[in-house]
Amino acid sequence: MNFNTKILCIGAGYVGGPTMTVIADKCPQVKVTVVDINQSRIDAWNSDKLPIFEPGLDEVVHRARGRNLFFSTDVALAIKDADIIFVSVNTPTKTFGQGAGKASDLQYWEKTARQILEVSTSDKIIVEKSTLPVRTAAAMERILNSNDKGLHFEVLSNPEFLAEGTAIQDLFAPDRVLIGSHQTPSGIAACEKVVGIYANWVPRERILTTNLWSSELTKLTANAFLAQRITSINSISALCERTGADVDEVAYVMGKDSRIGPKFLKSSIGFGGSCFKKDILNLVYLCEHYGLPQVAAYWESVVNINEWQTHRFVARMLEHMFNTIAGKRIAVFGFAFKADTGDTRESPAHLVVRDLLEERAHPIVTDPKAISEAKRDLKDVLDKVVFEEDPYKASENAHAVVVCTEWKQFAALDWKRIYDSMEKPAFVFDGRNILNVVELRKIGFEVVSVGKGMAET
Ligand code: NAD
Ligand code: UGA
Repeated sequence: MNFNTKILCIGAGYVGGPTMTVIADKCPQVKVTVVDINQSRIDAWNSDKLPIFEPGLDEVVHRARGRNLFFSTDVALAIKDADIIFVSVNTPTKTFGQGAGKASDLQYWEKTARQILEVSTSDKIIVEKSTLPVRTAAAMERILNSNDKGLHFEVLSNPEFLAEGTAIQDLFAPDRVLIGSHQTPSGIAACEKVVGIYANWVPRERILTTNLWSSELTKLTANAFLAQRITSINSISALCERTGADVDEVAYVMGKDSRIGPKFLKSSIGFGGSCFKKDILNLVYLCEHYGLPQVAAYWESVVNINEWQTHRFVARMLEHMFNTIAGKRIAVFGFAFKADTGDTRESPAHLVVRDLLEERAHPIVTDPKAISEAKRDLKDVLDKVVFEEDPYKASENAHAVVVCTEWKQFAALDWKRIYDSMEKPAFVFDGRNILNVVELRKIGFEVVSVGKGMAET
């Protein structure tokens, strides 16, 4: 088949895989290749068992794979062949040297830029899909355009706003697509090419174009604002617990104010995921770098309160369970960082399990999709943690159940059956406020929720 454009995406992860699958699905005239250095990940993308769990993803992959969507490890060949290269490699927090613990580790990013330069034989558009510190495109351009082959690389920023668990619907109907470019003739022309791809299915008024630096910074800021809303309501949850106010009622009524809105006000044991913490810390580092310590401190507190919220929840468990959980079986319901994903990166459940182990409790972890990831994350304490697919078995003879992930399945369980198999008094700590507290109390459970005093719920 004759394709009118050849797109390559470097990095076949949670972003590269789903975004390119949707582009291929919506643009049959475009050839989309996704490459990765991780052979087993690529093998999985080419198999019936995809490397990530994402509702609706399998169906779209099956529609496009082999037609105009290809997964490969031949990075060099794919670079040579491509007109437009999206770079979607991981950009984790740096763990060493200057900026350790806050700055972005750009080593994967820079390696990619150098490889593009090394093997390219024609001009290309390079699109930053990864989340990056503002002004990264300047470094990318310096590396790429330092070549003596006479080639021109136009660097654009097209940050991704999908959320895991809803990636396919987010990609099919995005609130907005953002493309940043230099406001030069070649920058604007490159931007228009990428706009043309999204315009195959995204209404034109939702495709927003800005300068490069605004685009890079908007992505960090959007994540910081979303996380800050969760931290704000979580901070209020602590006050609710002391005063008898109910955080869900407070959030609901506040959210009715159209200036505030209802989303991202669900109080919890804390936000997790690979990006919120990483991106806020990156923002903090940038503010420090640009001489804005007050702004840095403001954003850093969002991360600090988040971790405090998780530890605080375990401290409440301890308090309710007579100040000792040593030797007690505690069923941990959910290890994924949110529902509808198998991803456990920065999951609050991980912190909960570590805190339980610190108190010498015996955690039994159950999750519909993330048991193997949980085993990997807890590999240093495998002798102290039990993993159980079946939540009924996980809670047998347990003193408490702690809900860490908002899986709908947990709310639908037969809680009478669970109660009957547990030690008494049987405690439920609902870290996501998803259970029917009135019903559970009728059964006989002692229930502790986030942001609710005991008497009022
Ligand atoms: P990921 O770790 O799942 O995937 C990154 C992939 O890049 C890995 O498979 C890795 O092997 C590959 N890679 C690294 N260096 C490479 C190289 N030189 N050549 C080829 N492949 C290489 O990460 P992710 O969750 O997909 O995130 C990617 C980027 O997107 C990050 O910057 C992240 O902040 C951002 N982001 C993530 C999400 C999300 O929901 N996970 C959403 C929006 C933005
Ligand atoms: C988030 C953003 O929502 C995406 O727009 C962004 O693209 C992505 O980060 C990224 O850059 O990686 P994601 O982390 O996948 O997406 O999932 P969210 O739905 O944002 O949830 C993050 C965490 O916050 C989860 O642990 C979730 O349970 C928690 N959360 C969310 C709450 O505790 N309360 C809420 O009201 C909402």
